[in-house]
Amino acid sequence: MLVPEIRAFILEQDAEIALQFMQVLAYLDLPARQLTVDADWSVLLSAEEPPYLLMIGQSGSAAAAHRVGEKLCELDAAIPLVVLESCELRPEILAALENRIVGRLPLPLRHVHFEKILQKIALYRDNRQQGAPPRNPELFRNLVGGSLGIQRVRNMIEMVAKSDANVLVTGESGTGKEVVARHIHHHSTRRTKPFVPINCGAIPPDLLESELFGHEKGAFTGAITARQGRFEMADSGTLFLDEIGDMSLPMQVKLLRVLQERSFERVGSNKSISVNVRIIAATHVNLEQAILDGRFREDLFYRLNVFPIETPPLRDRAEDLPLLVSDLVTRLGHEGRGTIRFTHAAVHLLGAYGWPGNVRELANLVERLAILYPHGLVDTHDLPEKYRADGYVPPATAVGEMRAPPEARARPLAEAGAARLPRSGIDLKEHLTKIEANLIIQALEEESWVVAHAAKRLQMGRTTLVEKMRKLGLGRQEDLTGP
Ligand SMILES: Nc1ncnc2c1ncn2[C@@H]1O[C@H](COP(=O)(O)OP(=O)(O)OP(=O)(O)O)[C@@H](O)[C@H]1O
Ligand SMILES: [Mg+2]
Repeated sequence: MLVPEIRAFILEQDAEIALQFMQVLAYLDLPARQLTVDADWSVLLSAEEPPYLLMIGQSGSAAAAHRVGEKLCELDAAIPLVVLESCELRPEILAALENRIVGRLPLPLRHVHFEKILQKIALYRDNRQQGAPPRNPELFRNLVGGSLGIQRVRNMIEMVAKSDANVLVTGESGTGKEVVARHIHHHSTRRTKPFVPINCGAIPPDLLESELFGHEKGAFTGAITARQGRFEMADSGTLFLDEIGDMSLPMQVKLLRVLQERSFERVGSNKSISVNVRIIAATHVNLEQAILDGRFREDLFYRLNVFPIETPPLRDRAEDLPLLVSDLVTRLGHEGRGTIRFTHAAVHLLGAYGWPGNVRELANLVERLAILYPHGLVDTHDLPEKYRADGYVPPATAVGEMRAPPEARARPLAEAGAARLPRSGIDLKEHLTKIEANLIIQALEEESWVVAHAAKRLQMGRTTLVEKMRKLGLGRQEDLTGP
């Protein structure tokens, strides 16, 4: 029988670790109980209200971890799961539970990590109470942006979601390829079925086959039990083949066969298994070039590329920056991680940076600033040097190319003159406005916002500068109205 006040459960073989967690939880008014693998887990379901959390640590053996995985899959999704570093669940089980795992805790236990987990649990419970589908707050982000590029992506998602067509998402690193894949699944008729991601580039080639197709007991050394592959796990749902460009050629052949025949065999078995899986693949690699180089099969490319979607780099949609920043800030606020704000000038300056790491880089920056200036206002001078120095890199600058060193700021005209016209053309007026705004901000910053001094640096009259600042929405009121 469940003691009514028990609110949290912890599965952890190491008695010392379990005790430590139970003490912390008790202190937080969350009386906890240690759970063993073979205990009657119905206690988790019989309470009036679902437990506040279930922590999964060490199970003791691979077989025990397997049983834990099975039990977890049967549990009510209302119970938020927290995975401890000692957890031995297999990656495919963790992937299947992804929507219910609110966070992972490194050991030994640190206050700062635990606090974050509690905030995420609160968010998870809020979402569920509001009837939102359970989801991992880190991974499922809205496709924020009003630029043409993002609108086009949204339209394409809408067009393709309801069909079963294979989709190939391409784009630079951090542009939101996984966000797009999850959106497609979410808007498809498969949304209640699993979305199973697999990173084809991160798994060693000799393990990828059994990861994708599963294996039978004894199929190879170490295959102690039979195991489902990702194709089986994704049955009726969506399989997300991430970093497909990194897949080895022999594996490409096997994948092509499955896509053609819609069936496969587990490693070590000759029994054919049929599945109904929608494939979304993603890559940052230029597959057309990879085909020319003999690194990617053309026939597989055409199979995957039924409906291509390209996620635009952030530098091509700088107008989305204010929206993205405000979205990221709101999210941090919801997660209880501070209520940071940015000045217009700071956002403006960020809009001119090259963003080689795209939205991921922006998200990291916002998080970092929220830690540095909790509840504060971030102005241009609070931004790390890199984001200030890059102010006027021309948009045509290739990703990864050397960026202008800070001292190059002294040569604005040479820099501006060196800008190359991109093939797709350029909005010259907007580009010039950006260059102008950046130089103005730098002059103001370096002259401590004394407008007269900045005007001198820019070799223009003070009133002209004030007028330009007003147009650009720059500066504090006293700068614009002062003598
Ligand atoms: N349009 C967007 N709106 C909100 N958040 C976004 C958007 N695009 C990307 N993100 C966020 O940026 C981060 C990177 O996105 P994602 O992992 O989907 O990129 P990716 O293209 O798959 O990157 P990589 O090639 O490095 O795997 C994530 O935190 C994601 O939530
Ligand atoms: Mg990705």
